[in-house]
Amino acid sequence: MSQSSCQWITVLGSTGSIGVSTLDVIARHPERYRVYALTAHTSREVLLNQCLVHRPRIAVLDHSDDAQWLRQALDEADQPTVVLAGREALCQVAREACVDAVMAAIVGAAGLLPALAAAEAGKRVLLANKEALVMSGALFMQAVERSGATLLPIDSEHNAIYQCLPVKHRGGLERHGVRQLLLTASGGPFRTWSADKVAKATPDQACAHPNWSMGRKISVDSATMMNKGLELIEACWLFDATPEQIQVVVHPQSVIHSMAAYIDGSVIAQLGNPDMRIPIAYGLAWPERVEAGVETLDLFQIAQLDFEAPDEARFPCLRLAREAMQKGGAAPAILNAANEVAVEAFLAERLSFGEIANVVEEVVSQPYAGNADTIENILAADHWARQQAAQRVMLQAG
Ligand SMILES: NC(=O)c1ccc[n+]([C@@H]2O[C@H](COP(=O)([O-])OP(=O)(O)OC[C@H]3O[C@@H](n4cnc5c(N)ncnc54)[C@H](OP(=O)(O)O)[C@@H]3O)[C@@H](O)[C@H]2O)c1
Repeated sequence: MSQSSCQWITVLGSTGSIGVSTLDVIARHPERYRVYALTAHTSREVLLNQCLVHRPRIAVLDHSDDAQWLRQALDEADQPTVVLAGREALCQVAREACVDAVMAAIVGAAGLLPALAAAEAGKRVLLANKEALVMSGALFMQAVERSGATLLPIDSEHNAIYQCLPVKHRGGLERHGVRQLLLTASGGPFRTWSADKVAKATPDQACAHPNWSMGRKISVDSATMMNKGLELIEACWLFDATPEQIQVVVHPQSVIHSMAAYIDGSVIAQLGNPDMRIPIAYGLAWPERVEAGVETLDLFQIAQLDFEAPDEARFPCLRLAREAMQKGGAAPAILNAANEVAVEAFLAERLSFGEIANVVEEVVSQPYAGNADTIENILAADHWARQQAAQRVMLQAG
């Protein structure tokens, strides 16, 4: 591939787990990909090192004093990267005309506006930030449709389903002979724990995922199984599915990343080692394939694959997410915001593990009059739910 056909990539959230894996894949293919922009929230030292290695045109940090620190450090290293600060800069580097693809890997609701900016600008959007689709599924998919953006799921389960479906799969699963999507879940670190023990789990225990190395928020979501709930909502939007068409299957080895079951009885699965560089490389190169630095699965070593039904009594977050999707409107955004507040409080040791689901359930069961027809209304629902959740966290702490 010539230098002129090299693609410019913006990595939103480059200092996180997905961001680092993305840069690893990019660095393996300097003839195909060049980094246009890297962004972080507060990790300025990590961002500095990434800038020195990947030489982006632009780097973005949230706060102006961090940006000033980075500007000075890059200046001293004689590196011409332009440093910007603030939220609008995240949207700017996502929609910039010369950018071909945007990896949306900011965690949580903070990633919504820049991911949407990339979709509105018609980019190839590599979507790791599932919360964006959970909050604004209808608007996000409309933006993709309108702009002609290519939306490629990076969540390993959705990436797997994407690989198991026909290329043009929009328009409802039935149209393509698909009966059901089988969304696999590892079951998280507490799969075999008793309900009493789970309720008292610590942040370090919750973040010790058996198969995947991930950021702390998604690790806690995996432990509560809210992650699978958010993924169920994400899958509904990505694949035009109803919640009833999605079956969650606990598969502790995380070797099958998900499956599509067809009406003729065929079940197509995508398998691989649990390494996020697989879906990232798929998204970057689609419809081609590139080397991702991941070993081929050794089936003899794995020897056995297990499956079980999720236990919604011990892990009620999955049910809460399904109900929010069934309710529609602002409910998924409210669920997501309440969950973010509760998880943050848990990680700060202000809330017990067992209370996370209770806080979310109390907030989603409150009446809310607003809707989700504009991004402003979605952000208003998010704001309202955060206030509601914060009050409940305070009551628990008090
Ligand atoms: N990790 C995985 O294996 C995995 C798998 C599937 C899907 N995902 C999804 O991918 C997304 C990223 O997950 P992760 O595990 O990579 O998270 P992570 O390790 O916590 O990294 C999050 C990234 O977002 C940045 N960030 C955090 N808050 C921000 C804010 N308010 N404004 C701007 N940037 C902000 C962080 O910057 P700082 O470093 O400065 O804090 C960091 O670069 C999540 O939506 C997650 O659900 C992750």
